[in-house]
Amino acid sequence: DVEKKIDSLLALMTLEEKVGQLVLYNGSWDLTGPASNLDTKQKEENLKNGLVGAMLNVLSIEATTEAQKLVMENSRLKIPLLFGYDVIHGYKTIFPVPLGETASWDLEAMEEAARIAALESAAHGVNWTFSPMIDISRDARWGRIMEGSGEDPYLTSKVAVAKIKGYQGNDLSHPHSIAATAKHFAGYGLAEAGRDYNTVHIGENELHNTVLPPFKAAAEAGVATFMNSFNDLDGTPATGHKILQRDILKEEWNYDGFIVSDWASISEMIDHGFARDKKHAAEIAMNAGSDMDMEGGAYESGLVQLVREGKIQENFIDDAAKRVLRVKFKLGLFEDPYRYSNAETLKNISFEEHRNASRDVAKKSIVLLKNDKSILPISPSVKNIAVIGPLADDKDTPIGNWRGQGEENSAVSVLEGIKRAVGKGVKVTYAKGADLGMGERSFLFPLKINKTDISGFAEAVAVAKKAEMVVMVLGEDAFQSGEGRSQVNIGLAGVQQQLLEEIYKVNKNIVLVLINGRPMEINWAAENLPAVAVAWQLGTESGNAIADVLFGRYNPSGKLPVSFPRAVGQEPLYYNNKNTGRPSNPEHVTFSGYTDSPKDALFPFGFGLSYTTFEYGEPQLSANTMKENETLEVKVTVKNTGKVSGKEVVQLYLRDLVSSTTRPVKELKGFRMIELAPGESMDVIFTIDDKMLQFYNANRKWESEAGDFEILTGSNSRDLKKTTFSLNK
Ligand code: IFM
Repeated sequence: DVEKKIDSLLALMTLEEKVGQLVLYNGSWDLTGPASNLDTKQKEENLKNGLVGAMLNVLSIEATTEAQKLVMENSRLKIPLLFGYDVIHGYKTIFPVPLGETASWDLEAMEEAARIAALESAAHGVNWTFSPMIDISRDARWGRIMEGSGEDPYLTSKVAVAKIKGYQGNDLSHPHSIAATAKHFAGYGLAEAGRDYNTVHIGENELHNTVLPPFKAAAEAGVATFMNSFNDLDGTPATGHKILQRDILKEEWNYDGFIVSDWASISEMIDHGFARDKKHAAEIAMNAGSDMDMEGGAYESGLVQLVREGKIQENFIDDAAKRVLRVKFKLGLFEDPYRYSNAETLKNISFEEHRNASRDVAKKSIVLLKNDKSILPISPSVKNIAVIGPLADDKDTPIGNWRGQGEENSAVSVLEGIKRAVGKGVKVTYAKGADLGMGERSFLFPLKINKTDISGFAEAVAVAKKAEMVVMVLGEDAFQSGEGRSQVNIGLAGVQQQLLEEIYKVNKNIVLVLINGRPMEINWAAENLPAVAVAWQLGTESGNAIADVLFGRYNPSGKLPVSFPRAVGQEPLYYNNKNTGRPSNPEHVTFSGYTDSPKDALFPFGFGLSYTTFEYGEPQLSANTMKENETLEVKVTVKNTGKVSGKEVVQLYLRDLVSSTTRPVKELKGFRMIELAPGESMDVIFTIDDKMLQFYNANRKWESEAGDFEILTGSNSRDLKKTTFSLNK
């Protein structure tokens, strides 16, 4: 079996060759981190000598074949390379950014998106994706919030498992499956002040109850690899964190895959002030359980000597090398090192089908926040629609950041989608109004926002004046969110708000379509406009999916995976907060709140409207008490009280009223997507078991504690109906 094969191979390897398996090189000019000073010629030599385990950013069948050949035709033991890439929301066919697709709450659709991304990647030589990112992120200022599943550990865990299943399939050795990565382990999403790479100050309680659950779920789902993170966690950089990597992940969770560092995060421990030099950094990282060094040069230059000096046990190197070999065996690379560089796979791909799947997820990801007087869906009687805004005919922004090999300007714009959707006799006019950004846009450099140029306003106002209805398309550029894209402002950037208000003066019939990668501050729009829809960066089929919703071909069903704040000053903002000792008293200042704003979200987690309405009955319990080994059933009746059929995500939250550590005011513990015809009702049944009641408690264990619990059911995290039960032990 595989373990025997790994052992016999390991027995043949020199220490240098074992260390070689722990080296990951960037292979092209497509940098996804700062350029390192590793020499290209030397890299090639090392590949030939079997001193490299994997490469990243080597794209195309030709390029991966060439690199694999260097190893297979020159090295002593011919151990094939892994080829990693950030396939975050698609390879060529681009799906919604992860935060957006999570808003669909449709796990099957997300699994399918990952399956397609894996197939397209595999067809281009990639066999390892650095996805899913499952960092809990509660701060809209943090640019990478777009890359994860938002603020809730339960939802993020479910999405993690779905994505891993999609990427890896049931059999990792299938040539269409690729290895996935659970990242960034751990705490990266809780960077102080939302500033990327910043310090994370969380205690043990928060670490276990909030940050780790999605990673545990990923490990249990068999994710092939983990990536550690750039941040320091309560004084210890995650890359050098032994408790996280060796004790929790490898020992307690029994994880047998490998941990790759983030880009140079081993040598960055020098900048953290945690390591004296590269060699010291290598010593710390290896002893802490970090298995592979991404483009940092610390392992290749330091590990062999460190073992010889007795600073690292050789069995740590053996263990790390075995973990890497295990993934390679599972991928089937020893049977055929070129199995992912097979031109046939590409020939058989139907990109048309992939686009349809992308459109399907995209339309499901749109969240309708407001729809006064049912202005949406746009009625066929509307004969003159103006489409206005810097993002209205933008074919690039919907491709989003971390766009894989998604081509520039390859998305369907909102204007195009609308033009295709309207019937004959409907006039669609367009004005850009303003530019959002200026100059070159790229992955590595900050975007220059246009703050002054209003020369396009007059034309846009004229267009709006003549129209019956205006679809305003505003939001964020593709490169405003993503890695290193932290912002202190999360409102409409540049002159967009000004443009919106000018248009509003001449036409109040405005639907705002927001293209965004993070929660935004949209108070004015939410208060004044009749309709607002959050459309995220939806990928290749963006404009078609938006038109599907605007014209009612798809009844929106998306729900927010993150809270939308009233003001950036509320960040980090999340629904599953603690009660505090002074929860509320609006009459008085000595309570936990703000004197200039309500403390709750403008639009809460789980919120999203439909073109129909749903009525929720009271939650009904099968019993009022439960013992540890028993289960309880909660029944909630949901009725479609509107005129069209629609989908609804029925949500279940729990609250542990008194416990050995303080607990959140509510926590999502279940959800069910249902579809109801007008007038139809359905009983949705959730089963409560002891596992659902467990948390990492004062005993430092996952346990449930006897006592009273609240059960809350409803349509979002704010509008809930409540009942209670007790757990007896
Ligand atoms: O996978 C990424 C990671 O999320 C951020 N740093 C670079 C890695 C590889 O591109």
